[in-house]
Parts: sequence; C-alpha cells; structure tokens
Amino acid sequence: MARKRHEEDALSPQSQPNEIELDAALRPRTFEEYVGQRKLVDNLKIFVEAARRRGDALDHVLFCGPPGLGKTTLAYVIAHALGVTLRSVGAPAIEHKGALASYLTQLGPREVLFIDEIHRLQPVVEEYLYPAMEDYRIEIPVGDGPAAQLLQMNLPRFTLVGATTRTGLLTSPLRDRFGIVMRLDYYTPEDLTEIVVRSATRLGVPLEPEGAVEIGKRARGTPRIANRLLRRVRDFAEVESDGRITLALASSALDRLGVDPSGLDDMDRALLRAVIEKFDGGPVGIESLAAAVSEEAETLEDVYEPYLLQEGFLQRTPRGRIATRRAHEHLGIPPKGGPQGSLFSS
Ligand SMILES: Nc1ncnc2c1ncn2[C@@H]1O[C@H](COP(=O)(O)OP(=O)(O)OP(=O)(O)O)[C@@H](O)[C@H]1O
Ligand SMILES: [Mg+2]
Repeated sequence: MARKRHEEDALSPQSQPNEIELDAALRPRTFEEYVGQRKLVDNLKIFVEAARRRGDALDHVLFCGPPGLGKTTLAYVIAHALGVTLRSVGAPAIEHKGALASYLTQLGPREVLFIDEIHRLQPVVEEYLYPAMEDYRIEIPVGDGPAAQLLQMNLPRFTLVGATTRTGLLTSPLRDRFGIVMRLDYYTPEDLTEIVVRSATRLGVPLEPEGAVEIGKRARGTPRIANRLLRRVRDFAEVESDGRITLALASSALDRLGVDPSGLDDMDRALLRAVIEKFDGGPVGIESLAAAVSEEAETLEDVYEPYLLQEGFLQRTPRGRIATRRAHEHLGIPPKGGPQGSLFSS
C-alpha cells in the first residue's frame, strides 16, 4: 500500500533515481573528506592500516543505519584506502547462486565486494555466501544430470562490505560472519553544516556561514538531506534573489519546503499527528500507524521512526508507539488530560 508520491517525498531520506549522479559527485572519497562518525572512522582507519601492513584483505565489514548516513560512501572510502577496486551490487539483483558466484569469481586479491541492502539476500544465496566469507571457497556445479559434480573453487582473500538499514532483519549466521560490524549514527548539526559548506564549494554556490548553519540544523541528521536541501535552497536563491544563500533566504526557503525548525518534514508531522489525533497519543502498533498515514510499515520503521525516537518525539513501548510531550508541543496540540498531560505528568 505504497503512498502516492507527493512532492514532499523530495525530502525523504531515501535516495531518488535522479540523485544518484549528484550523490556520487558530492561523495567524499577519503577518510579525511568523510565528515563526522569520528569514533567509527578512527577505528576503521586502524583496521584498514593494519590489513595494509600485513598485505592481507580487510576483515568483512557490515554497516548498519538509516538511509543517507553514508554507508555506501564508506564502502568506497575503504576500497580507496586499501588501494583496490570495489565491485558493487544490490542484494535483490543477485537472483540465484550462479549470479553470486560470478561476482565472487571476478574478485582479485584484497578487492572489495559491496552488497547493498544485504538483509534482502535470498536464503539460498545467503547460504552460498557463508563458505565464501569464512573459507574463501565456493562450490561450482560442473556438468549436467547424474554426472554433475561439484567443483571446489578457492577464491582470493577478499573483503565483503555489506550495508543494511535494518540489522534486525539480518540472520545471525550472516551477521556473525562479519568481523567488523559498525552502526552509523545521525550527524550533529555542526557536522551537517560542514558537509553543506563543502558541497556548496564543490557546486560553486555562494553560501553565507549562517545560511549553512540553518541548512545543517534542519537536515534531519542526514548528509543526503543536507545536500538535497542545499540544492533546493539554491533554486530559491537563484530565482527569487541574487543567488546568495543568506540566513534569511535559507530559512524562508526551508519553511516553504515544509522543513520545520526541528528538521521535521511533512511525513514526520503527519505521523506524529496521526498518533496524537487518531490514536489518542498512543500506544499504537506500527501497522495501524502505517495504514493511517498510507505508508509502508517497513518504511516507517527504517526511515522515519529512528529519527523521531532519537529526537524524543516518539517513544517505543511494548504496546506500541506513544507521542511524547515534545511531539504535542511541537504540533501545538495539548496532551490529553489537560495542559499538563496525563501520560507525562511527573
Ligand atoms: N560523512 C559524510 N561526509 C560528507 N558527505 C557525506 C557523508 N556521508 C554521506 N555523505 C553524502 O550523503 C550522500 C548519501 O550517502 P550514502 O549514499 O553513502 O548513504 P547510504 O547510507 O548508503 O544510504 P542508503 O541507505 O540509502 O543506501 C553521499 O552521496 C554523500 O554526498
Ligand atoms: Mg547506500
């Protein structure tokens, strides 16, 4: 029951087809250019350097986290730092064992195979991957019918980099085969401001520092959104002003784009409003909520909820989601049970 694509989807954290090239153009190539996620990056640099010194492949790496936080980017940064080629494929495109085998057998020593959306591998394909990850070995069927034989084939030591928005959906045998598992967090407004400034420089957009801060603040913790807002605000600056992104211009453009001062977009607000108005503030199950806002439950869980939970607009309880006092205040709706609210009066 996918929601009809409205204009507000222009602000969804998920990537859009028309954006792939721009994303690639703005993508940091090295650890030095990669903004934020400091702890994760520092550790990763050590692991990469150690592998390089040993002349060995880096251990398999799994990146988890909401869309647009830089998982794909990190896969490329790793390959660059290792000085090797990266081959990339989305899990849904690996339709059978043979398809996976052809990716694996093309790999050179220490090269990186990047499998995006790795939680979506088919079970037979996933099982075929286990011995490849563990022992760098696969079985290739040779011949047909009763005479068919399985040929053991050794692979060079390679690195599998997997990315997923949902750790919960990964089977434990697969997860356990990654030596390095890293979770990406939402970025701070300061990090996002830095990303906006860098992207503006690359795109040649005149941007005042206060304008950058405003975009960074409203980017929902997500670099992809920061870059997208920058491009949209630039449109306003070029058409309605002299092209410079000032604080006033950024702030009015973002308002008009439906991005509020907390960085919430139309979908975030629709979701909070539904919890409050249709379900009395909750608790409400994810499926009912998804039906109420005409969005898929999976998308709500992957894309929207994590940020609303982190920012304290939503709370998750065993019985479902609850809108917090902050959500009520944000939407200007008094909590049920009077201005103090019954749920959160302390
Ligand atoms: N740490 C960073 N510093 C600067 N720019 C970044 C950073 N992380 C991501 N970006 C920018 O955000 C864009 C989106 O990042 P990326 O495609 O790596 O996200 P993702 O986590 O793979 O998302 P998805 O789950 O949708 O695949 C990149 O093209 C890049 O321009
Ligand atoms: Mg990606």
